[in-house]
Amino acid sequence: MSTKHVLITGGAGFIGCNAARYFGQRNWQVTVLDNLSRVGTESNLTWLKDETEFEFAKVDVRDTAAVNKVVAETKPDAIIHLAAQVAVTTSVTDPRMDFDVNALGTFNLLDAVRRFRPDTAFLFASTNKVYGKINGATSELKGSRYAYTNRPHGIPESEPLDFLSPYGCSKGAADQYVLDFARIYGIPAASFRQSCIYGPRQFGVEDQGWVAWFAIATLLQKDITIYGDGKQVRDVLHVEDVVRAYEAAIRSPDEIRGQAFNIGGGTAQTLSLLELIDMLEQHFKRKIPLKFDKWRPGDQEVYVSDVRKLEKTLNWKPSIDAKAGVGKLIEWVEQNRAAF
Ligand SMILES: NC(=O)c1ccc[n+]([C@@H]2O[C@H](COP(=O)([O-])OP(=O)(O)OC[C@H]3O[C@@H](n4cnc5c(N)ncnc54)[C@H](O)[C@@H]3O)[C@@H](O)[C@H]2O)c1
Repeated sequence: MSTKHVLITGGAGFIGCNAARYFGQRNWQVTVLDNLSRVGTESNLTWLKDETEFEFAKVDVRDTAAVNKVVAETKPDAIIHLAAQVAVTTSVTDPRMDFDVNALGTFNLLDAVRRFRPDTAFLFASTNKVYGKINGATSELKGSRYAYTNRPHGIPESEPLDFLSPYGCSKGAADQYVLDFARIYGIPAASFRQSCIYGPRQFGVEDQGWVAWFAIATLLQKDITIYGDGKQVRDVLHVEDVVRAYEAAIRSPDEIRGQAFNIGGGTAQTLSLLELIDMLEQHFKRKIPLKFDKWRPGDQEVYVSDVRKLEKTLNWKPSIDAKAGVGKLIEWVEQNRAAF
């Protein structure tokens, strides 16, 4: 296959730099676009330079002219759009900035694709937050963890959308624009509604990236606060598995056009907060002191993605199990103590 060109927005972030390495090492031409606003992005770029070749464009996705220029000039065969304001808490304190980056920024990219490169495969990193609280799903405590009582395969794409929080609204609006631009303009664009993604190069903080945050906080002996009882369950997916799905999607433009896919560890890869703490305690061989606080608004007892649509469409499956994946993450955290 001839060399293809992928433009990765947010490419200096956690998922982005892992994606850039993956594609670069498979001989794709890679352009990383980022405004470097996230902590850890400079360190990610330094690391990436040793891993693969890539071009870097310091661009803010809110800047329409700059976005148009990059798309028109680089003429990518695929765009993986990851650049975002990623924290729900920040979206509450600064909803306009959240809207500008997530909704308008995505619109800017889509419109640039429509005008300059309409055959580009366009993957948008959406979020499970577009489903809101999911009132129809019920859960109960089974032993030491919550489980759905009426969603045995997890949450499917047919679940009603319910944009809770400004972040949910801005990502949800973008998610719908992506699907509509596929319908109206025929762009091979898809929304990947991601649940919890974890792995190396994730500079997790309390408000976003909880798996990495727990590992980093444990290493640095910082306080960890559990909101709720810690028995809440999430499906977790290692970043390498996400990036493999991106490649499969880019290679199947007709299958993904106009489709939303839930992507996460699914029913096979789930963790409760306390189970992760337990893994960390075993690794670091000490008891981790925890603070408990009340549930945060909108927190769910369980969120598990139904990933069967993605599995079927792309012949993809999560390949890294949570225990092994968390082990890799801890290894990276330990080797990079100075970066936190
Ligand atoms: N990590 C997860 O668990 C998860 C879950 C659901 C959805 N997502 C989505 O996946 C994407 C990537 O997430 P991540 O975990 O790698 O986050 P991240 O914060 O590490 O990466 C986002 C990147 O976007 C860049 N960015 C922010 N604002 C920008 C702007 N205005 N212009 C250009 N670049 C900008 C940041 O500097 C950062 O490098 C995001 O869209 C996020 O909403 C992530």
